[in-house]
Amino acid sequence: MSSLGKKDEIIINNDVFVPYLTEEVLQSRIKELAEQINVDYAGKTPVFIGVLNGAFLFLADLIKSINVDCEIDFFKLSSYGDQKISSGNVKMLKELNCEVDGRDLIIVEDIVDSGLSIKFIEDLIGNSKPASMKVASLLVKPKSLMYDVKIDYIGFEIPSKFVVGYGLDYAQKYRNLRSIYILKEAE
Ligand code: IMP
Ligand code: MG
Repeated sequence: MSSLGKKDEIIINNDVFVPYLTEEVLQSRIKELAEQINVDYAGKTPVFIGVLNGAFLFLADLIKSINVDCEIDFFKLSSYGDQKISSGNVKMLKELNCEVDGRDLIIVEDIVDSGLSIKFIEDLIGNSKPASMKVASLLVKPKSLMYDVKIDYIGFEIPSKFVVGYGLDYAQKYRNLRSIYILKEAE
């Protein structure tokens, strides 16, 4: 059972989620990241590779502020099932359609938690020969990282607590929220 309770909090199975990153804060940081990418990729035509499902809103808003020529493609991975903690293995549900050899790739993630998904993608792309590969993640939980991965563009570093909204789900719900909500500590 879950409900969109009072407008300033969300209750999912007895867990209370409170507002954490507002729409304004998210959009202004995303513009800053895009400006940095515009500088770094001047004269190039990067391919933004969104990791479905979570990154769809971040990718959409990010590329609206990109002013170099660019392309987009998507991976679809699944690792969480319907749980709040990672199942520890990653499944590839949709592969890339674009040719990656010789291209400048920017992997776009909603959140890096253990780093397993990014490691999986890096290993996979490591079999090809892109000109370059960088990673942009809206959120990173630095204290949860278990793999040696480099995140080149970070929106926000956050505590190791579950978050929902703005693309991020709990059992596939709440992706449509414009702000990000964080699990409140039990009192
Ligand atoms: P990692 O492979 O452990 O780094 O986890 C990455 C993926 O797990 C993300 O792309 C998300 O889909 C999911 N994930 C990790 N933390 C959260 C969270 O707090 N809320 C919702 N999804 C999360
Ligand atoms: Mg994801």
